[in-house]
Amino acid sequence: MKERINFLVEKLNHYNTQYYQNDSSEISDFEFDKLLEELKKLEEENPQFKLPNSPTLRVGGDITNDFQTVAHRYPMLSLSNTYNETELLEFDERIRKTVDNPVYVCELKFDGVAISLRYENGIFTQGVTRGDGEKGDDVTANVRTIRDIPLKIEEKNIDKNEVPTDFELRGEIYLSKTQFEILNQEIVEKAKEKGVEEEKIPDLLLKNPRNAASGAIKMKDSKEMAKRKLSCFIYDAYGTPFDSHTNILNHLEKWNFAVSDFYKKANGIEEVLEFIKEWENKRLQLPYETDGVVIKINNLDQREELGFTSKSPRWAIAYKYKAEEAQSKLKSVVFQVGRTGAVTPVANLTAVQLSGTTVKRATLHNEGEIKRLDLHEGDTVFVEKSGEIIPKVTRVVTGLREKNAKPIIFTENCPECETKLIREEGEAAYYCKNENGCPPQILAKIQHFIHRKAMNIDGIGNKTIELFLKNKVIKDIADLYELDKEKILALPNFKEKSVENIFKGVEESKKQPFKFVLFGLGIRHVGASIAEILTDEFASIDNLKKATQEEIAHVFGIGERIAESIKAYFSEPKNIEIIEKLKAAGLQFEQAEKKKPILDGILSGKTFVVSGTFQHFERDELKGKIKELGGKISSSVSKKLDYLLAGDKAGSSKIEKAEKAGVTIISEADFMQMI
Ligand code: IVH
Repeated sequence: MKERINFLVEKLNHYNTQYYQNDSSEISDFEFDKLLEELKKLEEENPQFKLPNSPTLRVGGDITNDFQTVAHRYPMLSLSNTYNETELLEFDERIRKTVDNPVYVCELKFDGVAISLRYENGIFTQGVTRGDGEKGDDVTANVRTIRDIPLKIEEKNIDKNEVPTDFELRGEIYLSKTQFEILNQEIVEKAKEKGVEEEKIPDLLLKNPRNAASGAIKMKDSKEMAKRKLSCFIYDAYGTPFDSHTNILNHLEKWNFAVSDFYKKANGIEEVLEFIKEWENKRLQLPYETDGVVIKINNLDQREELGFTSKSPRWAIAYKYKAEEAQSKLKSVVFQVGRTGAVTPVANLTAVQLSGTTVKRATLHNEGEIKRLDLHEGDTVFVEKSGEIIPKVTRVVTGLREKNAKPIIFTENCPECETKLIREEGEAAYYCKNENGCPPQILAKIQHFIHRKAMNIDGIGNKTIELFLKNKVIKDIADLYELDKEKILALPNFKEKSVENIFKGVEESKKQPFKFVLFGLGIRHVGASIAEILTDEFASIDNLKKATQEEIAHVFGIGERIAESIKAYFSEPKNIEIIEKLKAAGLQFEQAEKKKPILDGILSGKTFVVSGTFQHFERDELKGKIKELGGKISSSVSKKLDYLLAGDKAGSSKIEKAEKAGVTIISEADFMQMI
């Protein structure tokens, strides 16, 4: 029995390595699954013989309710970033003050999530996420499902006494571009099978490979994680006896870890610059995403000599490639009215290829941006895609402007209902205040209400809402709960079955908790997280309605602007009427669970600089909260600082200084997570 188990483990692991790392299969999937099934059964019957490197561990199955927080034995630092050559030359100069003729290693910077892997006596024992760098989440069960992370370092790959008894590796877990496409394809197929409306499907898709990887690693069901088929490149080791980075990488490769083929030793910074140039475009052809190059000193003694700042090593730096940009020509500017009445200028462009997709439109954000660009009719412009966000116009080639081109002027009236636009003090956007009479606002409000993150009404999509409005089946959100079956059946393409689905979806939506309902109402400035804060605090719509502006503004995370908007919403009789109708229909307007407790003193000993403007909070509010939780506020960035909390338009000199001093820069969302 034991022999058969050992035999199967060895055989299956061999096939796995061949398949996942050497791209060759010596056995059919069917045969493989049959052997795996046999092994699983034998292990269940003889658990005492189960091996720590059994391939059955790869399939997942362990459910984790709460990931344990684990302290890193070697802190997981980040790298300082640069986007330009000058700073790289400065980096080299700093290095040369300590090291003569430095030898660097250039590696691609993989775009995924960092992971720390522990091996004891050659066996994988623990996988931990980066977390805050000092401690992370134990995600061992999930990591085991990643096929190119060996569960055991095979003896045949080791020279005598070569593998240390206890060491740690660092790497990047990522999703390949192909696997990303496959997963999204599966999501589309499943959604179609379930009858989800076509225009709702994009909301369900994975945004990009990085998000998909970081979402997967925190999955509670490791079987689900296994289905994502993630990969992992290893790029660092701690506690191994080697004297140089290339030596580490060579051994890791021999031990069957996935090490990228494309690292290169560089004698001096000139060769580093060549590597960066070489890969600028070549990297786009790789089957996984990369966003830069990591430059590291090769010699480990020299690394020790160079040391660390509080947050990053002095012996390494990351060069990040700029987002891809393309040149195009402005055809026209249109003004779009959003759900809240905000008017956004959008540029129509001659079609151009950008990061693999055709771009015909790009956002111009607001009037200020049009002025900043000094945009004129027919201008030649550059567009850029940053992450998954809509492309934006970044600059104008003024030299190519036609002689008599007229400047683009922001519209004074709503392009849809002619209402005069208003811009409030301190706001960048112009608004059409004709909330209940401006067609795109009415449409977008109802579409927002049915959205997955609000009432999540299955069976109705954005197109259906458009059709219902046009044919007067509904005029507001409350009408969704008083639908007339005959009226719908009279519309083209609606059959008994689809109408049944609509009614089922509407009925089901009545169970959505209060926070989703409140978000669904579409009160200006009340996004999903603000709705949650409000439901936690006020517990019912009646309490919220009764509260004074001051009381609302006083709640942490709310502030004057939101409180004012909430009061304005409740002062509108039409809104009260809708709420009453929704209440009568049976929607949840009370919160069932209790308010979450907030921990006192969790920021003790930590110093923050808060810079920029934030989406959900006023700057002073954030400062107040930091102090309340035991943290300290500083006005300038220095090495002693723990965090730079950076919002929109945060001081660029502060950011630069923080990066240089190795201070961790966090966003509003990171901060919320922290507290
Ligand atoms: S070395 C001390 N090498 O980039 C940090 N990092 O901020 C040593 N990354 O958290 C990191 N590819 O997740 C290194 N070839 C590579 C990398 C890489 C991606 C990530 C890693 C790290 C972040 C740096």
